[in-house]
Amino acid sequence: MAVERTLSIIKPDAVGDNHIGAIIARFEDAGLKIAALKMIQLTQKQAEGFYAEHKERPFFASLVEFMVSGPVCVQVLEGENAIALNRELMGATNPDDAAPGTIRADFATAVSANAVHGSDSPEAAKREVAYFFSAEEVHSR
Ligand code: TYD
Ligand code: MG
Repeated sequence: MAVERTLSIIKPDAVGDNHIGAIIARFEDAGLKIAALKMIQLTQKQAEGFYAEHKERPFFASLVEFMVSGPVCVQVLEGENAIALNRELMGATNPDDAAPGTIRADFATAVSANAVHGSDSPEAAKREVAYFFSAEEVHSR
């Protein structure tokens, strides 16, 4: 398996609920390394651009509104199989369907407030990491 990088976002609900440390611990405990990390307040434009693939979906406006409702923590996770491993740690999009012990089962309250984002493919990971971080800001260890 190859070492990959993936973009993770701790969303405004989980930041507001004081779960940053608990969520980062899930990544580190699973063997993923934090290669980059920052807390930011997304602008409307940034949130719309990030989720552009969903712009025709009925939930797009509420998703963007939620993503700008407070600061988010964005991080690059690095490790073997990082993209799929992060998706596994996150659990299903709807917390009602998320397997016990996953981040969304434990910290999300609704599909519209589901605690974390994770890139879903190598192509998405490349685009999403570059969306928030310059090459100099990402540190392989
Ligand atoms: P999606 O990419 O399908 O899920 P994931 O985050 O697991 O990759 O959707 C992006 C986000 O849009 C999702 O995390 C929460 C929001 N969303 C809704 O608010 N309602 C919905 O019905 C869906 C499918 C997603
Ligand atoms: Mg997605």
